[in-house]
Amino acid sequence: MGADRPGARGAFGSRWKNLMSELPDRLARLTDSLGELGLDALLVTDEINVRYLSGFTGDSSYLLVTARETAILSDGRYEAQIAEQCGYLPCFVRPPSESLSDLTERVLNELIAPGDTRRKVGLEAEHLSMSAYQLFAERCGEIDFVATSGIVESLRMVKDPQEIEVTRHAVRLAERAFESLLPMLTPGCSERQVAHELEAKMRLLGAEGCSFAPIVAFGAAGALPHYEPTDRLLEDAPTILIDWGAKLGGYASDLTRTLHRNSASAEFRRCYEAVLESQLAAIEAIGPGVAASDVDRAARAVLQGAGLGAAFKHGLGHGVGLQIHESPRLSSSSDETLAAGMIVTVEPGVYFDGDFGIRIEDDVLVTDSGCEVLSRLPKGLDDCRFML
Ligand code: GLY
Ligand code: MN
Ligand code: MN
Repeated sequence: MGADRPGARGAFGSRWKNLMSELPDRLARLTDSLGELGLDALLVTDEINVRYLSGFTGDSSYLLVTARETAILSDGRYEAQIAEQCGYLPCFVRPPSESLSDLTERVLNELIAPGDTRRKVGLEAEHLSMSAYQLFAERCGEIDFVATSGIVESLRMVKDPQEIEVTRHAVRLAERAFESLLPMLTPGCSERQVAHELEAKMRLLGAEGCSFAPIVAFGAAGALPHYEPTDRLLEDAPTILIDWGAKLGGYASDLTRTLHRNSASAEFRRCYEAVLESQLAAIEAIGPGVAASDVDRAARAVLQGAGLGAAFKHGLGHGVGLQIHESPRLSSSSDETLAAGMIVTVEPGVYFDGDFGIRIEDDVLVTDSGCEVLSRLPKGLDDCRFML
C-alpha cells in the first residue's frame, strides 16, 4: 500500500513536504551516534523530531530507532498518511482500545530482543511524560531506560541542502508578502489588520501559514519585544515594528523590520543606525568554527559603544528550522560553535518604554567560508520609511 520510498508525492504532500531524499542520511547519522552513546535504541517522542527523521507530518506518533531498523508507532487515523509519507518504515498501528504508551511498551518488548546484557533504550527526557516512563519501566523488565537530551536536536542544527532550499523560499515568500503590505499602511489601519493582511498574503503566496503570530507594533508599542497586535490605529505614529515569518514545508523564516517616517525623533534615527551597525558587525563575525557567544559579543559591543548596551534586552538570535526557535542560540551564555549549514537569526534590538523600539532581524546561513544573508529586504534608515 502507498509509497515505497522517501520523496513520493500524493494527497499529503505539497512540493515542499516531499523534499525527503535526505531522510536515510538523517537516520544513518542518528544510528551512528547511538553506538557512540552506548544505546541499543532511541525512542523518539517529540513530534518535530519524528518529522525530521521520518517525513511524517502528523502527530501522536513515535519512532523507535535501533541500529538495524526504524519503526513508526501510530494509530488508524494516520495509516494512509504514513503509507504515503514514510511507507518504507515498518508501521505499528494501535487499535482505538490501546493507548500510545501501551503500544510502545508492546513494540519495545517485541523489537528490543533480550541479549546477554541488558538493553539500553534512550528516552527523550524533555518530550515524554513521567507516567509513560513509569509504565515502560514497570512493564519492560529487560530494558534499562536512559534519559537523553538533545540528540536529534543537535542533528537538526546543521541543515541539509533541501532544508536550506526550502528555508530560502520561506524567506523569499515572507519578503514578498511584506513588500505587498506596504501600500496598506494608512492612518486608519490597525495593528491587527496589518497582522491579518500579512498572514493572508503569505498564505496566498503559498505559505502553510505564519512561523509565529506576527508582531505589528505601532509607535511606543515597539518597545515591547513580544508585543501582541491590538486594535490600535496607526494614525500619526512615527514608527512601526513588524516581526513576521512564513512557514513552508514545515520550515520557518523569521524577519523584523522597523519602519519610520519623518516625524521620528533624532534619537530614533541615531539608535536605528547603531542597531544596524550592530547587526552588520554580528553578520561579519559569523563563520564556521566561531563561538556563538562571540557573535553576540560583536553585536553587543557596538551597542555598548553607542551607550545603548542596557537597551539591548535579549540574546542576539537563534537557530531557525522546523521550529521558530531552535539551537544554536546566539547569546552571551551559549556554549555552541557555529558550523556550515546552520541557519540563525541575527536580531539586535533596543527598547525604550513609552517611546520606541527598534529591531532588525535577518536569517543567515553559515557557509564553509563565512555566511550568506538569506533575506534581502533593504534595511538602511532611508530604505525603511513609510508614507513618504
Ligand atoms: N518573533 C520571534 C523572534 O524573532 O524570535
Ligand atoms: Mn522574529
Ligand atoms: Mn527571531
